Formats: sequence, structure tokens, C-alpha cells
Amino acid sequence: MESPLLTLNERSLYDRIGPQALEALVQHFYARVAADPVIAPLFPEDLTETAQRQYAFLSGLTGGPPLYHERYGHPRLRARHLPFALGKPQVQAWLRCMQAALNATPEIGPTEARELYALLSRIAPQMVSTPPETFPVTYTEPHDSEP
Ligand code: HEM
Repeated sequence: MESPLLTLNERSLYDRIGPQALEALVQHFYARVAADPVIAPLFPEDLTETAQRQYAFLSGLTGGPPLYHERYGHPRLRARHLPFALGKPQVQAWLRCMQAALNATPEIGPTEARELYALLSRIAPQMVSTPPETFPVTYTEPHDSEP
């Protein structure tokens, strides 16, 4: 007997979300990015091309047509983000925009929204390019009395 759960899980996240809802999400996302004081200054004024590339990327990432690869080649996501100074505040701001965009896209159900957010929140910290915090270290010589 076919398990309903198995049938459900066999459908990709892309199939369950659908291209129209994914497109709506990307539009909501960049509207928020453009208004975010932390990350807006990193982006070009006109976000049309950026949104198209993000849609293409998310299509493939969620198991749909690999549009990004077809149109632009390998995404080299980390390398592409290296020119920007991205630390924890920028990652948090990006994810905050994505969270708000998902909330603003009711066409995406809660299960799919949770799944997509979990996927993106695992990728986002990989974009960090600023060096980790360093601490001043004072080296102390061992005491003469120590063995
Ligand atoms: C962690 C915080 C992030 C920040 C601050 C950030 C910022 C940026 C910026 C400034 C650009 C260049 C936009 C342009 O010139 O058009 C960009 C491009 C892009 N980002 Fe991010 N990003 C972040 C995380 C992510 C994540 C998690 C993903 C994966 C879903 C992603 C996917 C992309 C894609 C696909 C592009 C377009 C690359 C291209 O030029 O072809 N970014 N991002």
C-alpha cells in the first residue's frame, strides 16, 4: 500500500510551493531588503536583475528547474558574496527579511515556509566573510616556583 506521507514527501519543495508563489516571495523579499538599514546599502538601487537571479537560484535549490545553472552557470555563492563585508548582523538582517517575506506570502503554506526557511538559514551563515572576533592575548611566563 502506498503511504500518503511518502507520496507527499516525494514532491519537491518547488512543486509544493509553485512558481507563482515563489515569484511572489522573491518580490516580497527584495521589497524588504530595499528597506532594511543593515543590508540595503550593499545592493544595487534597481533590484530587478538581482530578483531574477534569486528566483532562478531558488527554483533549483528547491528541486525545481535548475534555471540559475542554465542561465548563469555555477552559482559559486560563497565566492560571489566575498566582496561584501558580511558578518552576523548582515546574516540576521537577510534572514529577518526572508522571514517577513514568507509571512507576507500566504500562498506558501506553513509547512513549506518552515522547510524553506530552515534550508536558507543553513546556507546564510556560510556567506560570512568578515574575520571572526579576535581576543587580545597576554602570554604569562610560568612561575619559577612551578615544577
Ligand atoms: C547572509 C546574508 C546575505 C547578504 C547580505 C547577501 C547579499 C547579496 C548581495 C549584496 C548580492 C549582490 C546583488 C547584486 O549585485 O545584484 C547578492 C547576490 C546574490 N545572493 Fe546573496 N546575500 C546573502 C545571503 C544569501 C543567501 C543565503 C543566498 C541563497 C539563497 C543568496 C543568494 C544570492 C544570489 C543567488 C545572488 C545573485 C548572484 C548573481 O549575481 O548571480 N544570498 N547577495
